[in-house]
Amino acid sequence: MIDIHAHILYCGDDGAASSEETLKMGEEFAKTGVTHVFATPHFIRGTLEIAPERIIALTEEYNCLLKSQNINLTILPGMEVEICHEIPGLYKEGKLLTLNNMGKHLLIELPFHFLPPFTDQVLYELKLLGITPILAHPERNHVLCHNPEPLWEMVHKGVLVQVNGGSLLGFFGSRVKKRALSLIKSNLVHFIAGDAHRAYGERGPCLHLVHPILIKAVGEEKAEVLLKYNPKAILEGKNVLKWEPKQPKTGLARFFHR
Ligand SMILES: [Fe+2]
Repeated sequence: MIDIHAHILYCGDDGAASSEETLKMGEEFAKTGVTHVFATPHFIRGTLEIAPERIIALTEEYNCLLKSQNINLTILPGMEVEICHEIPGLYKEGKLLTLNNMGKHLLIELPFHFLPPFTDQVLYELKLLGITPILAHPERNHVLCHNPEPLWEMVHKGVLVQVNGGSLLGFFGSRVKKRALSLIKSNLVHFIAGDAHRAYGERGPCLHLVHPILIKAVGEEKAEVLLKYNPKAILEGKNVLKWEPKQPKTGLARFFHR
């Protein structure tokens, strides 16, 4: 498996808290069947700005260490960028890192409690720059968890969506789990990723636990695409597989459908 979202690098964000933890996480990823993991440290404008060059250098350094310990895992460079209206400008200035530094996909995080009014504009401007935004765990955003209609509009305009494995395992509550499953069934999700912050426990590598749940919920074929085919497409810079998004039923729509 390939995991496109992980805080595996010891680099000052809230992920691995030491070099040892980076290596322990690497070991756990390999043990759970992950062969490639994208290191996606948080980039928060004005608060936590890690340079792309540093992420690339750390990735190379830890790949050498993993190899020397016979751990079968390759770390690829990336970044998880908290949405702000400066994103297109920051990208043009070379301050943001696309997945695998291929200039194609940028992992974007929304705040948990609201949907910023400039969200659409930023995603649109990125598309104009040739970048496809991948929204990280929108099921954890309170607004989209209650009403996924804006997400449907974003997907319709070409935004890709990544749901967290931990959401499907119920680690963020039953409402988030239910929403994650309903987004997948509505064809609004293109990847499942781990978003691991630790080596063990609920924030550790989890995709091996998600696989059977996903097969049961949506069948083997779709599970394969979400967990394997599409993450591999990102790694290889190819097009991801998409399905026609179904308009989700909001609380109001469900009322009128009774
Ligand atoms: Fe993350």
